[in-house]
Amino acid sequence: MSYYVTTPIYYVNAAPHLGHVYTTVGADILARHMRQRGEDVFFLTGTDEHGEPVVQAAEREGITPRELGDRNAPRFRDAMARAGASNDFFIRTTDPEHEARVAEILQRVHDNGHVYAGKYEGWYCPRCADFKTDSEIAEGNTCPIHGIALDWQEEDNWFFRLSAFQERLERLYEERPDFVLPRTRRNEASAFVAQGLRDVSLSRASISWGVPVPWDPEQVFYVWFDALLNYVTALGYARPGENLTERFWPASFQLIGKDILKFHAVYWPALLMAADLEPPRHLFVHGFLLSPTGGEEGGDGSGGTLEKMSKSRGNVIDPFAVIDAFGADALRFYCFRDVSFGQDGPVSEAAFATRYETELANEYGNLANRTLAMIDRYRDGATPEVDVDPALAPDFDGLRESVEGLLDRAEVTAALEEIWERVRRLNRYVEEQAPWKLAKEEAGAGDLDRALRSLAEGLRVVTVLLHPYMPESTEKLLAALGQVGLSLDGAGYGAAPGGAHIGALEPLFPKR
Ligand code: MSP
Repeated sequence: MSYYVTTPIYYVNAAPHLGHVYTTVGADILARHMRQRGEDVFFLTGTDEHGEPVVQAAEREGITPRELGDRNAPRFRDAMARAGASNDFFIRTTDPEHEARVAEILQRVHDNGHVYAGKYEGWYCPRCADFKTDSEIAEGNTCPIHGIALDWQEEDNWFFRLSAFQERLERLYEERPDFVLPRTRRNEASAFVAQGLRDVSLSRASISWGVPVPWDPEQVFYVWFDALLNYVTALGYARPGENLTERFWPASFQLIGKDILKFHAVYWPALLMAADLEPPRHLFVHGFLLSPTGGEEGGDGSGGTLEKMSKSRGNVIDPFAVIDAFGADALRFYCFRDVSFGQDGPVSEAAFATRYETELANEYGNLANRTLAMIDRYRDGATPEVDVDPALAPDFDGLRESVEGLLDRAEVTAALEEIWERVRRLNRYVEEQAPWKLAKEEAGAGDLDRALRSLAEGLRVVTVLLHPYMPESTEKLLAALGQVGLSLDGAGYGAAPGGAHIGALEPLFPKR
């Protein structure tokens, strides 16, 4: 089966922060997991380089928007790579191939009769590049997301007939209750549709940094339409000489933050329908990573008020610094363990250090090192060739299926919790069996064989399942266990034979 997962494309108005890496790592976990299931996977991330957010940032820096994009897009690309993202392509909306396809698709939307000339009048947030509806305006005509004053805009634009899709969108929400996940976000989106839809600007006359409208080159397409289409255009040129659209569209999962719900849950399916394309199968909407603002203490999560991490609030965590300090795997683990995917939650370097020590070093790292060390010491480095202990079987029965079921719904945190319970179970098993005692008793040899074999096997199973979360450490550990297979077909307890020769392993999560 084909599985196509996407992230939002990030504005290049500033350097990437942890919030951007968060979504891409979430998508990476799904992509890697699906590859382990043998699915045909395509994973896309990239940068959004047009529109006011980028124009205004470039002006502030005294350079052109293209220069700003050329400076920052590689930073996003590097941040994602350093965080271990295995994306199959990195799209930039300044790619000429993207621009040509945007013009082509929106020409089709025009030719299909969904576009007309009109005048826009209303409130606009240049940071969101969003024409706000009445319900989206905070007190004093400010943006509820950025807290900045909204601009009153009057402009002759081309309009997209969004209102004509009212019924089809209502039907989409009714017929596919899982179109938007989690359920609360679905309700929010369908309530927005139910309010009644107004047509939206498809083009802008006041800025020139964008894709020119083919039937009116004085205007450029409104950045959101250009940006949304990346999910489709990329498939047309990511592999030179090949068109992947048939193979991967409609997308399986499109991950977004809750800030851009309206664009993805309302505009996007309507635009696709207008272009004779299918809506994606699912959108998954996650919450915000929060971080303190205004506190003297900063960094430890105790000072200031918790707010959405963003450059404009000055409360960002630099992903490169975290990766340098703790490694990419620890960053990936932490983000999905400390904050439940789908909800808002605070992040801080102090909480990071705690989680690293209590769970990665003391629970998982320790289990790995103890298991390997005992096999080395008591059995000359070979996993005993005996049956696994049936006492642990109930703990592992159905584990793979349950992790798969959760990740089928992009429940990244819940799936991790399922696996982690087994990490804890194995640590308890070590204490229960006390192999160091068995090793001293002559009659304990058989029990010791069984305990070591079961530990090695349990550790292998949790490690295969943890691979999407922590690709680097899990590969090292599997190599040390002498069992490198990543396929989930082998993720059953007892599925791999004993007799493997174990190798050396540096501490996976060294004390810092
Ligand atoms: N360019 C648009 C998206 C176009 S998609 C067709 C945009 N860019 S953005 O740079 O502002 O990135 C927004 C996305 O970054 C959010 O939807 C979310 O995925 C991620 N995040 C940015 N800050 C975040 C947090 N503080 N917390 C969680 N995710 C965050 O909007």
